[in-house]
Amino acid sequence: MNDKQILITGATNGIGLAAAEALAALGANLAIVGRSNTRTRIASARIRAAAGRGATVATFIADLSSQASVRRLAAEVLARYPKLDVLVNNAGAMYETRQLTKDGIELTWAVNHLAPFLLSKLLLHRLKESAPARIITTASQAHQGAHIPFDDLNAERSYRAFGRYCETKLANVLFTTELARRLAGTGVTANCFHPGLVATGFNRNNGLLMNLGMTILRPVARSAEKGAETLVWLATSPDVANVSGAYFFDQEQRRTSPAAQDTETAGRLWEISERQCAASRPL
Ligand SMILES: NC(=O)c1ccc[n+]([C@@H]2O[C@H](COP(=O)([O-])OP(=O)(O)OC[C@H]3O[C@@H](n4cnc5c(N)ncnc54)[C@H](OP(=O)(O)O)[C@@H]3O)[C@@H](O)[C@H]2O)c1
Repeated sequence: MNDKQILITGATNGIGLAAAEALAALGANLAIVGRSNTRTRIASARIRAAAGRGATVATFIADLSSQASVRRLAAEVLARYPKLDVLVNNAGAMYETRQLTKDGIELTWAVNHLAPFLLSKLLLHRLKESAPARIITTASQAHQGAHIPFDDLNAERSYRAFGRYCETKLANVLFTTELARRLAGTGVTANCFHPGLVATGFNRNNGLLMNLGMTILRPVARSAEKGAETLVWLATSPDVANVSGAYFFDQEQRRTSPAAQDTETAGRLWEISERQCAASRPL
């Protein structure tokens, strides 16, 4: 992996950090994205300590809830790397209460769906120039049973933290299939995966009850290293070099929900996401 440049979001903790450590150990060059200077510096030191011969680790600071910040991040990445082999959209969260971003977008939707959508789009030409290249998105089994609420995309009428989270994870799967369709023949693949129930910092920001729930689930949850295995495999394995538009769990392709297989919904979501990002486009 010594000649591979990988960009990964959400690498300051949990699955993203474990994946970055494993990829650096294989000799890949890592560029990690974090929103806090301190946490990003600490994560970078951990990744460096795990790195194999020749691996490099660079850091970028971006708050993925802000489209201006995502645009700045993309510009910095494009200026720094003439070649980008793998983009990993991994950062994600669930929020106890409904909050709006600076762009007026509901926060879960902004971080979990629009940030990967916008970042991937802004880096797409560099990934195509670097082909063969791969885009990997951390989705979830939580997409099962969810639907995209096209009549209430900003969750104004109804907000339930877990339900909202599930909608964004369905959006990750639909985004992946539509992206793969658009990338056919370019040498760039797009896949997503479910990491399992993983003991990370996830859902620790959701009040006492959720925190207690996560503590109770901890003994049955897998480690971050185990949760990262499919991500690392998708980024490195020749087995998936020509696979695109697929959803994986434990290094096996799995069937997605009927809603996630609806190509019309995937196309509609793409167009709406473009409109949701258009407002932040520089004049
Ligand atoms: N844990 C599970 O059981 C599970 C199951 C299925 C899917 N997933 C998915 O796995 C992915 C990783 O989650 P995790 O379990 O590893 O959780 P985690 O330990 O909470 O890590 C989440 C990462 O995302 C980053 N992040 C969150 N909001 C951000 C923002 N606005 N801007 C930039 N970075 C931001 C966090 O950065 P900070 O350090 O700054 O907070 C952190 O690095 C998520 O997409 C999640 O939906 C997790």
